[in-house]
Amino acid sequence: MTASDDFAWEPLDDVDDLEVGDRRELSLASGKLVLVMRTETGLHASCADCPHQDTPLAEGMLDGSVLTCPLHFWQWDVTTGEPLGVAELPLEIFELKQEDGRWWIGMRR
Ligand code: FES
Repeated sequence: MTASDDFAWEPLDDVDDLEVGDRRELSLASGKLVLVMRTETGLHASCADCPHQDTPLAEGMLDGSVLTCPLHFWQWDVTTGEPLGVAELPLEIFELKQEDGRWWIGMRR
């Protein structure tokens, strides 16, 4: 068993045109909503809604690797999900991989 077996992988389309600083909310085939962002370090994915009061984070601001919720300004490092400043909860971050010329997103089983 490999570490990759710990995840259920779904294809992630419509992300190749994202440029540094861009973010996009996507609906997966499973129905789950995720937020995909591109930073200087690459592509990152998180839950689409704020862990505080479910505000859509696609409406927030991405500055470097720091994502800011538009409602109460909680912030996270999108490379780790670690809360910054006044944020009291971490941001759920999903694994990404590129395989067969396509991006995949992994949900922990
Ligand atoms: S809803 Fe996002 S910080 Fe409050």
